[in-house]
Amino acid sequence: MKVLEGKVWITGQGLTNACVGINDDGYIGAVKKILKGDVHTTTTDIILPAATDMHVHFRDPGNPEKEVWASGSAAAACGGVTAVIDMPNTIPPTNSPSHFEEKNNRASSNSVVDFGLGFYAYPGISKESWFKNMSPAFWKLYPYKFNWPEYQSTVNEIIANSPRPIVIHGEHPDYISYESLSSLSDHTENRSKAEKLCLEGMPNSSSLHVAHLSSQEGLDVLPSQASSEVCPHHLLLNLSCKVGIECKVDPPLRERNDNYALYDALRNGKIDILASDHAPHLMSEKSSAKPPSGIPGVETMIPLMLNEVAEDRLSLERLVSAMSEKPAERLGIQRGKLIPGNPADIITVDLKNKTKISLENLHSKANWTPFENWDAIFPSRVIRRGQLIATDGVLQEKKGGTSIFPPTL
Ligand code: DOR
Ligand code: ZN
Repeated sequence: MKVLEGKVWITGQGLTNACVGINDDGYIGAVKKILKGDVHTTTTDIILPAATDMHVHFRDPGNPEKEVWASGSAAAACGGVTAVIDMPNTIPPTNSPSHFEEKNNRASSNSVVDFGLGFYAYPGISKESWFKNMSPAFWKLYPYKFNWPEYQSTVNEIIANSPRPIVIHGEHPDYISYESLSSLSDHTENRSKAEKLCLEGMPNSSSLHVAHLSSQEGLDVLPSQASSEVCPHHLLLNLSCKVGIECKVDPPLRERNDNYALYDALRNGKIDILASDHAPHLMSEKSSAKPPSGIPGVETMIPLMLNEVAEDRLSLERLVSAMSEKPAERLGIQRGKLIPGNPADIITVDLKNKTKISLENLHSKANWTPFENWDAIFPSRVIRRGQLIATDGVLQEKKGGTSIFPPTL
């Protein structure tokens, strides 16, 4: 057994002087005041559960120029994320058992972090012969290409027929204009009502998870039983920041007041999950006449938010809950807490170790970030199932990630 000793985050107690015992299989054997092991490491860092990011786009298969499992998972690892759920809007979309299996194989061979896959939902999907036997991380529904009755009924169809969560991109299809745009504010204007009108029409169900909440108006009509997530760009960026059209993202950036409302909801737990919506596109596309939507963020999410904790704008308790405990709980997986039986997925952090985010040190093939030069705190160590995979933003392992929701067909 390996032992890591220091101030350990224990749910319900907070930071406590303790030892985490890690068994040879990479799972936590014990968390106690005193433990003896073959290798004993004492740290002055705080010891936290690593993050699960339930919203990334690793573009593999389909767009290797933007991201692949190796680069996306390296970015995750260096940012303190030891498990990701990949979204199904790849090429081809993850919308059949064979596409699901193919992506699962690619990830198994190339990911350094553990992973699950979202499955692309569409009207009538529950009538497919394989539907009942599929158990993806979740079903994901996009508004594009569907009309509102189809969108609504597909949500209800999945709730009625599957125990797995249905994650929605909460924008009303009839209120998204596909007009070409010349500025970031035009993009926001185009979609100004889409979030509110979509969420107002969603069922109040605990099967529902609302991805990337972006506006106060949307927050106000969030169904009370649904879970939800917020991304760093919707907390920290708005239209009055000095950012350009490269920050076009769906749902869009909005006003400072929306940042405040979302941040308050994260602080009080109304929004329970933090996710990156890591959506890599190349700067050449971003600066073209028709820029695609999306902002990369899997590597910067936890470092930015640890800095928020160091600056006293967010409590450590809320961050650990939103980055580790709640995503695991929502997905129904044994992770996110440092307790016996869970994988030893751990980050150690020195909250005084502030650095500036620098593109040079990031791993995504997107190769840009709106957070260049922002203050951030990268974890000193990132441990995935007992193995050190990154130190101070430097990758230490290249593979070894395993599937959390392997194909069942
Ligand atoms: O901005 C976005 N980019 N929103 C989405 O929903 C999709 C994502 C992407 O895949 O690029
Ligand atoms: Zn997304």
